[in-house]
Amino acid sequence: MRAQGKFSRAGAMLFTRDGLEQSTSEHVARHRARRFADADGITTVLDLCCGIGGDLLAIGAALPRIVGVDRDDVHAMLARHNAASYDVDADTVVADVTDVRVRPTSAVFVDPARRSASGRGGSSPPVQWCTSLPAPYIAVKAAPGIDLGTVPAGWEVEFVAVGRDLKEGVLWSPAWGAGVRRATVLSAGSDVGHELLADPATPPAPLRPPGRFLLDPSPAVTRAGAVADLAAHLSAWQIDPQIAFLSADVPLRTPFGRLLEIEASLPFGVKPLAAELRRLDVGPIDLRRRGLSGDVDELRRRLRPAGRRRATVVLTRVANAPWAFVCTDPPGA
Ligand SMILES: C[S@@+](CC[C@H](N)C(=O)[O-])C[C@H]1O[C@@H](n2cnc3c(N)ncnc32)[C@H](O)[C@@H]1O
Repeated sequence: MRAQGKFSRAGAMLFTRDGLEQSTSEHVARHRARRFADADGITTVLDLCCGIGGDLLAIGAALPRIVGVDRDDVHAMLARHNAASYDVDADTVVADVTDVRVRPTSAVFVDPARRSASGRGGSSPPVQWCTSLPAPYIAVKAAPGIDLGTVPAGWEVEFVAVGRDLKEGVLWSPAWGAGVRRATVLSAGSDVGHELLADPATPPAPLRPPGRFLLDPSPAVTRAGAVADLAAHLSAWQIDPQIAFLSADVPLRTPFGRLLEIEASLPFGVKPLAAELRRLDVGPIDLRRRGLSGDVDELRRRLRPAGRRRATVVLTRVANAPWAFVCTDPPGA
């Protein structure tokens, strides 16, 4: 039942608890598989560390031949079964991937096991092993928090979010194109991504005082370093040199960020903010902090908002000064 959130045919599939938790969801895997299908001349893909087959079934549906490898014999068996649930005929092999001889003609996808959710503890096999494989087309799934200093020169890094949820980083070998940084945002339930590239030639976004609207960029955009590119596309500006919030006087509709309408904008102080919440008749608040330290629960207790309207309170910096915004969702958001 838990797998139904990830796979449309979950009822026909088989899982281990770990295998399900580590698997790529169907929509994200399909989005990635399309890139393999669109590349020139790929017919066979090796899925090294195939787990229960989340990626295997999607790549297998898009390409003529897929072979999965996992050292866990149960996972290798489940991957084959799960691919068949999607009418994909996949071969799976039980082996340590470091013993597999990769032919230079193969395309390779690797989703190593992470030692921790943040990715900080490294992975098995290590990312460096994955990026050194002797194949032109290689894609490696990595933790969203991957240290960009570990990415080889010329490799692309794609950050993938579903809605506002940052799911993964993916390293793409130079054969796929120049080593860009890409932000991809998928709407929940869709495998068609909105994509934004970070162009190193884009000048920093202009700095101006807050306008009527605040845009909180998707974490995929901030991780890809594409905030200035998003600002340029939207004719928006930054309100602080260090904080990724963008602002504008018109409602910006974009899949790359969440829009808020500013009702009150003031230098941060508990008493003035509490007075503003009373004036606006605000009760339940969604409190977000970006670039300011402090205990959110303690602040909520001190603010004690008791009005009837719901609002988002954003605590951040404006031109390096601590600042507070009281915001609502604009109509139609
Ligand atoms: C993150 S999961 C793969 C998830 C998969 N992409 C999916 O969508 O279902 C990682 C898998 O790597 C396997 N693994 C880790 N190190 C390995 C190694 N050296 N050789 C083979 N398999 C390995 C683990 O058994 C685990 O099944």
